[in-house]
Amino acid sequence: MVPAYVPNPVAAVCGGGMPIDFGKTYADGRRILGDGKTYRGLVCGVCAGIAVGFLQIWLFGTFGWTFLPQQTLASIVLLAFGALLGDMGKSFVKRRVGKNRGESWPIADQYDLVAGAFILMLIFDPAWIFTNVTWQILIVILILTPILHRTVNIIGYHIRVKKEPW
Ligand code: CTP
Ligand code: MG
Repeated sequence: MVPAYVPNPVAAVCGGGMPIDFGKTYADGRRILGDGKTYRGLVCGVCAGIAVGFLQIWLFGTFGWTFLPQQTLASIVLLAFGALLGDMGKSFVKRRVGKNRGESWPIADQYDLVAGAFILMLIFDPAWIFTNVTWQILIVILILTPILHRTVNIIGYHIRVKKEPW
């Protein structure tokens, strides 16, 4: 999951500039995605996720770290891109239910990246999921994700990278 966990914090550090929705509003008069989703955040986040994925592949091959999952180019791209696609999908629905950018939306804010990464993986490389994500691993992911999410966001808030601690 590391290539899926890295894009969000990196987007928070590097994000800014042109929003993905170009500032446009939807039929309901609210922003399509909002200013919290930018091209710079998306590109930097996905690239960083892919970079740590390559690091995993290298560690696996060079040092025989076989406890790592068998990452491939496809798996790291799907995990990294899927994470931020899930984040964007979440923001789209979040705007539709009337929540402002940055407002807290429990469950969705924490699991959007898992849902996005898994959905993309199930569409394009389902064998990877069934080989690498056992029931035990899935349970660990579901427990660890909100804890990691909250911890990283509190740190991000204190070092003034994030506006909100969630
Ligand atoms: N970010 C970005 N581009 C992305 C994702 C995130 O630039 N594709 C940056 C934005 O600066 C954003 C910050 O990372 O404010 C934190 O991300 P997140 O908490 O997902 O966004 P929110 O601002 O809370 O917006 P939303 O309510 O839509 O989730
Ligand atoms: Mg947020």
